Amino acid sequence: MSPASRSALADVAGLLACPECGLGFEPQDRVLRCGVGHSFDIARQGYVSLLTGASTKMTGDTSAMLDARAAFQGKGHFAPIAVAVAAAIGSTSGTVLEVGAGTGYYLAGVLDGAPDARGVALDVAKPAARRNARAHPRAASVLADAWRGLPIRDGALSRVLSVFAPRNPGEVARVLAVDGSFVVATPTERHLAELIEPLGMLTVDPDKDRRLGAAMSGHFDAIDRTLVEYSMKLDRADVANVVAMGPSGHHADHADDPRIAAMPETVEVTASVLVSSYRKPLG
Ligand SMILES: C[S@@+](CC[C@H](N)C(=O)[O-])C[C@H]1O[C@@H](n2cnc3c(N)ncnc32)[C@H](O)[C@@H]1O
Ligand SMILES: [Zn+2]
Repeated sequence: MSPASRSALADVAGLLACPECGLGFEPQDRVLRCGVGHSFDIARQGYVSLLTGASTKMTGDTSAMLDARAAFQGKGHFAPIAVAVAAAIGSTSGTVLEVGAGTGYYLAGVLDGAPDARGVALDVAKPAARRNARAHPRAASVLADAWRGLPIRDGALSRVLSVFAPRNPGEVARVLAVDGSFVVATPTERHLAELIEPLGMLTVDPDKDRRLGAAMSGHFDAIDRTLVEYSMKLDRADVANVVAMGPSGHHADHADDPRIAAMPETVEVTASVLVSSYRKPLG
């Protein structure tokens, strides 16, 4: 287990909440133990599982999906999105949670821009939890299902982030401090549009924006939104990764998809993402 991932966990242990009783944790050598003695092992790979017995049927992204996502992000194609997300989060000195952190790419970008902040990367997928433990020296990795309640104490966080991932606004409002903010990145209908039809990928629900607004209302006020839209030059390996990392990636092996092989050497593909910031209503 890397000392960095263990010390990142120890740093945020008091902000995490025991999923059995809601109390905070005392970090010990290889476990987190709450005030009444429930204990959760820190895995060899440096993450803590706060999934409970009956916890979840959700398994999240597979290892292959995460490998494809990491390879695509590693080539910088989504760097403008990471920059916009980090700008929306700003230079907080508190704790930042990323829900559905996946590879930890966006949280790592946020922490690079906020040298006094600490991070918690939460994901329901074990391969994601393993990656997140290595994503950044100040990021703690927690395996948990965001739909079962966030294993975080009330008002403990200064920022929450969700990029292409589940949100659970009621729970996010509970764990954010009164002056905290919630940054959400969602794809628009134009995101990856050039690939969707030729490759039979799942489309973005055109009603998504309205549904996000409805889910947030009552818990949050919208304070800012930025459209990040640009053209990417992708080669065939990039295109195969786009397909493999998305919701269509659950199904097949894309490495030798004849539709990709028939594409030109490079294709221009739109990235189009809305980065929205929310605050809790005053009073
Ligand atoms: C499309 S990926 C985005 C990952 C990352 N934010 C990024 O953009 O690189 C969605 C992530 O949410 C995770 N996820 C799905 N359902 C979840 C849940 N109920 N609780 C926590 N994470 C979940 C998946 O395992 C996956 O890593
Ligand atoms: Zn407990």
